[in-house]
This record gives sequence, structure tokens and C-alpha cells, in this order.
Amino acid sequence: MRVPAVLTSEAAGALAQRLAQSARVANDRSEQLSHTRILGPGDDAGLDAVVEKIGPHLQAFGQLLFGESLRWIVKEIWVNVLQNGGRQSLHNHANCFASGVLYLTPSDSSACTTFTRSMGGGEFAFRNTHAGTTTGPFNAEKWVAPLPEPGDLILFPSHLLHEVPVNQGQERITLAFNAVPHRLDAWGYALSFQP
Ligand SMILES: [Fe+2]
Repeated sequence: MRVPAVLTSEAAGALAQRLAQSARVANDRSEQLSHTRILGPGDDAGLDAVVEKIGPHLQAFGQLLFGESLRWIVKEIWVNVLQNGGRQSLHNHANCFASGVLYLTPSDSSACTTFTRSMGGGEFAFRNTHAGTTTGPFNAEKWVAPLPEPGDLILFPSHLLHEVPVNQGQERITLAFNAVPHRLDAWGYALSFQP
């Protein structure tokens, strides 16, 4: 789900400037990528205010995923600073259901978040791909998210593999987060994920 202009580009820029300084955790695989520590609710008043703004969109996305209006909590949020030449390797997010990226600076077209369908499974695979089919976010093997503006938000199911190819442009700063619903209920057998 893409949501344009959740923050104004000025607000996104101010947040990027403030938070980039605390992105001192080195990435395991790319020297040109660093992160802040993982923050939770109550750790940073500015981020709590951003989470408030994300809330209604997360709620709507959760309704698409689970067919019900559930209470969602953003349990983890962190900042990524991707320098020129840096990349984020293919990964997904564990122990959560919805994840998102809020873009704080302009991105170079070389460094758009790219989603990849899991290779998974040990059985025959079927595809419908020929000159008459149209490729979109729901049927693509690999989908490159459109170039975002500062303040734009993207939400995706946490299991979906994604990466950022080598950034050939300027420093790119994003806010990433993981969220869980208050509970899931399968015909009375319910699991609760919140305190
Ligand atoms: Fe990610």
C-alpha cells in the first residue's frame, strides 16, 4: 500500500536531519548503510507523533490483510541511512505482521525499495506470463516500488522479501517500522500479540 505525503517534505527533512546523527549501528552486509538502535513506543516523542500519523493507514492496511478492523501497535521503529554505494540486502521482518517504510529524504531511482516473491516451496510452480499479461504489484516476481517523495509511506506484509539495490545517488534516509495487531482469532482460537 502506497500512501503519499503522510508527512510534509519539510517535516520529513527535519526528522531526517535530527535522527541521522544517531544512526551509528553498522549494517552487517553494507559498510555504506547504518541504522539507529531499534526504538519502541515512548522512546522518542517525535517518533511517537509520526506513529500517530501512520496509525489510520496501518489500520486500513491491516483491514486488507485480516479482514477486520484490529488495534495495531508499532512495536519497533528505526532509521536507515544509506550512503552512495550502499545497499540493503534481501530480507524480511520476523515476529510482526505489517511493516512499513517512511521516506524522509529524496531517493535516487537506483535505490527504490524492491519486493521479491519468495522462491519457497518444493513443488511445481505455475505462472501466467506472456505478451498479453500486465505486470503489477500483486503478480510480479519482482516489483520495484515507484520513486517516492520525502514524506511518502509504503506498507507491506512483513513476510514479503525486499531489498534496496546499490544507491547511486545522494544519502537516502528512511524510517522503517514493524507492527502487530492486538489479536488474531481463528474460530475462537485467539492469539494475542500485545501487552
Ligand atoms: Fe526491511
